[in-house]
Amino acid sequence: MDHTDMKIDNSKLIRHKGFNLISGIHDPDEVDQIYDLELRDSDVFSVTYPKSGTIWMQQILMLIEAKGDMTVNKHRMNGNAVPWIEARGKVKEFATELSPRVRTTHLQHRFMPLALRQKKGKVIYVTRNPKDVLVSYFYFHKVATMLETPKDFNDFFEKFMKGDVHGGSWFEHIKTWYSQKDNMNIFFITYEEMIQDLHSAVERIAAFLGKDLTQEQSANVVKHSTFKNMKQIPEANYEYISSDLLDHQQGSFMRKGTIGDWKNHFTVAQNERFDKLFQDEMKDFPVQFIWEVCDIV
Ligand code: A3P
Repeated sequence: MDHTDMKIDNSKLIRHKGFNLISGIHDPDEVDQIYDLELRDSDVFSVTYPKSGTIWMQQILMLIEAKGDMTVNKHRMNGNAVPWIEARGKVKEFATELSPRVRTTHLQHRFMPLALRQKKGKVIYVTRNPKDVLVSYFYFHKVATMLETPKDFNDFFEKFMKGDVHGGSWFEHIKTWYSQKDNMNIFFITYEEMIQDLHSAVERIAAFLGKDLTQEQSANVVKHSTFKNMKQIPEANYEYISSDLLDHQQGSFMRKGTIGDWKNHFTVAQNERFDKLFQDEMKDFPVQFIWEVCDIV
């Protein structure tokens, strides 16, 4: 750790070099080792701000690798097949694993291997409209025992607005990753595009990864990645994660899987404040977000 490490106003987070890690889940020294990892061209990193479709992309990547065959990863949780590089013990494992190495991360790009910025390996960045991220994250904080349970929605709203959560500021996360678009082999996709047309999303992801799938194989990837089907697959929906980490009595990881749930939670005043912050932060940002199902064309 260095002098910028400190506990912040949330007993379960550790501030490390301006980023909020989770106490017990992450080790700042191991996180620092990621930067120097040697990469291969076949390495793939799926990058998300929390609650933006992380396990969904894990499921898709696993299935693309298995050419749509669910039996290849039978009994393997998608968090194990496509692990978080920043989780304790995972850096060492990465260095010794055979190709292809497919990983997830919530980290900001400055912690990631320098080699990514030399166009080694590939990055898929999944983003989701931040109002729905906030709502999904609020419910996740109730389920996740490694995160502090918010007093109420308003309390969590304030924390998210300040970036006082694991992952830090949503705005900073997306903007800093986007700033790397010319330095890395990076593919951007939104959660809402995946909802809108999963088949096209799967085909575009497979093409980016240079994977040739038959029509039948991509149809199988899609079939096993729908919300309805993932909800039935315990390895995909975190049902098997122990109660030390997730309190399954408090809710389900696969909660709603929709666009626009924020409308059921934000007050008019919260919405106005959020819109103001969004406009200030994102005014020059070229990606359009879909905020409601009716925005889908
Ligand atoms: P909700 O809480 O809004 O339902 P992450 O994996 O990044 O933590 O994101 C979790 C969110 O993605 C949850 O959102 C979850 O329901 C949603 N999700 C996971 N798999 C999905 C799928 N196949 N289709 C749509 N949404 C999915």
